[in-house]
Amino acid sequence: MKGIFITFEGSEGSGKSTQIRLVRAYLKKKKKPVLFIREPGGVRISEKIRSILLDVANMKMGDECETLLYMAARAQLVREVVAPALKKGKIVLCDRFLDSTVAYQGYGNGVDIATIKRIGRFATCGIRPDITFFFDIDAPKGLSRINRPKDRIERRAMSYHNRVRQGYLAIARREPGRVKWIDATQSKDEIYAAVQQHIDRLLQGR
Ligand code: TMP
Repeated sequence: MKGIFITFEGSEGSGKSTQIRLVRAYLKKKKKPVLFIREPGGVRISEKIRSILLDVANMKMGDECETLLYMAARAQLVREVVAPALKKGKIVLCDRFLDSTVAYQGYGNGVDIATIKRIGRFATCGIRPDITFFFDIDAPKGLSRINRPKDRIERRAMSYHNRVRQGYLAIARREPGRVKWIDATQSKDEIYAAVQQHIDRLLQGR
């Protein structure tokens, strides 16, 4: 793969969307071929799966169904967009990826993590991010920043969201080379300064 794959992870209300917008603008200014997508979603089929996943009417959804639907959305996105773009040498910015399933379904719901990783390899064709930003914020603070109706996942108990955060912290500890821990309680500009440093280093290495 000639391109660069950058993913953005974090708990609810961590400000990652703002940071992705800033990174995208920065790369465009540098005339880099950049593509921005989100998970679950990014292509028509995966956006349809997203609406099933986030619909508050689907409270009966089991953990296995939920895990497989996130993976199904990912499998379609990877084949339709991510893999072709990376082959063409593009920089792909993805709002969430497989780490989200490990954190939310694995650490949050208690689904076996080895199983998630195995299905994950199938869903992603083994494509892994070159770098992942983890915007870390404590769960109550993050959730208090959401000022719109909460979706099916956001409505879960604080204990669930605390487990998700602990999951992300464990992922970051396990893979410090790939996963960059960012303190999301800092100001927008401070956070972006840290992110841009990593991006510049990554671009220099290419
Ligand atoms: P978003 O709010 O960042 O757009 O993400 C949608 C929700 O889906 C968010 O609550 C996190 C959740 N999610 C998972 O639980 N597992 C996953 O694999 C992904 C990609 C997202």
